[in-house]
Amino acid sequence: MDDIRLDSLEGVGPVTARKLSDAGVHNLMDLIVRGPVEISDITGMEKDSTERLVNKARQFLADGGVLAKDFVSAADIYKRRQEIGKISTGTECLDTLFDGGVETQALTEVYGEFGCGKTQFCHTLCVMVQKSQEEGGLEGGVLYIDSENTFRPERIVSIAKANGMDPQRVLDNIVVARAYNSSHQVLILEEAGAIIRESNIKLLVADSAVGLFRSEYLGRGTLSERQQRLNHFVHLLARIAETYNCAAVATNQVMSSPDVFFGDPTKPIGGNVVAHTSTYRIYFKKSGKKRIARMVDSPHHPEEEVIFGIGEAGVIDPEDPKAKKIKKKAGAAPPANDTEDAADAGATDAGN
Ligand SMILES: Nc1ncnc2c1ncn2[C@@H]1O[C@H](COP(=O)(O)OP(=O)(O)OP(=O)(O)O)[C@@H](O)[C@H]1O
Ligand SMILES: [Mg+2]
Repeated sequence: MDDIRLDSLEGVGPVTARKLSDAGVHNLMDLIVRGPVEISDITGMEKDSTERLVNKARQFLADGGVLAKDFVSAADIYKRRQEIGKISTGTECLDTLFDGGVETQALTEVYGEFGCGKTQFCHTLCVMVQKSQEEGGLEGGVLYIDSENTFRPERIVSIAKANGMDPQRVLDNIVVARAYNSSHQVLILEEAGAIIRESNIKLLVADSAVGLFRSEYLGRGTLSERQQRLNHFVHLLARIAETYNCAAVATNQVMSSPDVFFGDPTKPIGGNVVAHTSTYRIYFKKSGKKRIARMVDSPHHPEEEVIFGIGEAGVIDPEDPKAKKIKKKAGAAPPANDTEDAADAGATDAGN
């Protein structure tokens, strides 16, 4: 449906449309993604009117079949879930872990220590998403929010070549937004609606989702503010993924915390905010030259581990086919504890 202009909504005249547009809300999807509280904050409109507006927009889009209705039968949910696309990781091992690939309508968090392959994984997906559905892609583009200046077009070129694709065309379908600080990173996402539609974006990458928040909000004093803003960013990511039926992938670095004696001494930097919003959480770990990926938190995947590697083609299958899959041992402690209090993540940061 093309007709999602603000003025297609009854009661929205040119003045309101202008006010919203000036605040970066350009269409009905934007209204829903941002929500009444935020719209009231940024436009100065009364909360009551913004609530009415957002409800009307939701109704309008639900009637048009663009959005799921508020009250739906399980059969309808099932049908909407049938529309979920999957992006192959380009490897057999990780595809097994993801049960086919990285899903749309969901936020996938990849966390692990430096050099474990988070960025390489994102680069591989940037190429894979562009393939046809038969080949494991979604024929879609990418919006890559680069917060640590780690996006490398050269890597895209080599991964594209390894997949027999035209590197120039692959590069053309990736929009890179370099985020200079955490507010800018949030702003990029708030303004992303138009580009997601225009460029048929099917993959949204936030690499690293948490790094800038972490470096800007140091110490315990600012922790709650940081968690609040990070929470806003991560929820926005999840809502965009659902609204636009695209896959959102956020990376998150973990650091060793020497005060942990049992289990794996690492924690995701984002603390529990990221953990509770992500639909899927994958933990990457270095093991010599190999990498181990573990599905930590998923509504319907079993918790298991696979071994993968990194090479010219991005993330790759291990050379020894026997070593592909390790079933998780019963009773082993998960690496990152979601019940961890946010203050714990902050305490780790403060000492960093
Ligand atoms: N062309 C390549 N061939 C083989 N390995 C490569 C290639 N390019 C990068 N790597 C490996 O990828 C690893 C870096 O992975 P990556 O940058 O994805 O880590 P990361 O998890 O994003 O780390 P950080 O938290 O610091 O951002 C390095 O070990 C590097 O050797
Ligand atoms: Mg990285």
